[in-house]
Amino acid sequence: MKYSVEQIDEIICAYLPEEDGFAKPVIQAMNYAFKAGGKRVRPMLMKLTYDMFYERERESVLAAFMAAIEMIHTYSLIHDDLPALDNDELRRGKPTVHVKFGEDIAILAGDGLLNYAFEIVSKTMLHSPGSVAIERALAMLCEKPGISGMIGGQTLDVVMTGKPVNDMQLEYIYLNKTAALLSCAVTIGATLGGATEAQVSLLRDAANSIGMAFQVQDDILDVIGSEEVIGKPIHSDTRNEKTTYVTIHGMEASKQYVIEQTERAEQLISKLDVDNAKAKKDLSDYIHTLINRDK
Ligand code: IPE
Ligand code: IPE
Ligand code: MG
Ligand code: MG
Ligand code: MG
Repeated sequence: MKYSVEQIDEIICAYLPEEDGFAKPVIQAMNYAFKAGGKRVRPMLMKLTYDMFYERERESVLAAFMAAIEMIHTYSLIHDDLPALDNDELRRGKPTVHVKFGEDIAILAGDGLLNYAFEIVSKTMLHSPGSVAIERALAMLCEKPGISGMIGGQTLDVVMTGKPVNDMQLEYIYLNKTAALLSCAVTIGATLGGATEAQVSLLRDAANSIGMAFQVQDDILDVIGSEEVIGKPIHSDTRNEKTTYVTIHGMEASKQYVIEQTERAEQLISKLDVDNAKAKKDLSDYIHTLINRDK
């Protein structure tokens, strides 16, 4: 693999806030959640996509966007684990933030990470005024975690808890709660790298398939995964009476779906006309590793 998780960590952890002052309790909780681990899929995808196009002068801006998307993702996990939502006590192999720091601080730590993400990106933007590519990337970072993306998906997910969910609703939930942030990462990487609108659009389509596959694999691991390996409780979906792709279609069809959607994404990416064939292969190889992930 082109980049190790440690290499990605080195880039994104540099942006974490200092733990001092009266806000220290919330900053400690933010950094705890962020540094607990995680596969860093979103910043990894962002960087691998950027590398296919690679606009040299935007590397430092890219780093800020990589950190920001992982902060937003981490906030979504803190809130997703809260007693009012999935009520889970283990995340990234550690006690969840509300277990370790209390529910009040956990809510604030989620809010804090969301806000800090935009703070670091906007401060970095001050060094490159007037860049349309960077402004477009910021618009994506504003939109996709919100009501037209992750929050929208999480909303239908919680509203439909304990109720029968049809295929259209399930697709909306997965496309938004999960695929939205993955495709946000990919389209930001492409945009900062200097991709054309047609290339960005093809990559968005591919990333949505990666996202659908990613969530179905997450559902599969909730059933057959090992708590030690995934670092979060298994059977959380059953306990919370969630309808998932697995409960509707069964385990074998779910595994097949993950392969099909991933292959669809790989095929779309193979059509991309980019000079850097090596970078394209690196992205494709990485996506392929997600099929058989056990965490
Ligand atoms: C978990 O995301 C939530 C989903 C969208 C399935 P990840 O599986 O990327 O979690 P980390 O970041 O590796 O902990
Ligand atoms: C949540 O999906 C996706 C988010 C936006 C956090 P899940 O509830 O299935 O994620 P896990 O299994 O707790 O990581
Ligand atoms: Mg959930
Ligand atoms: Mg959950
Ligand atoms: Mg899950």
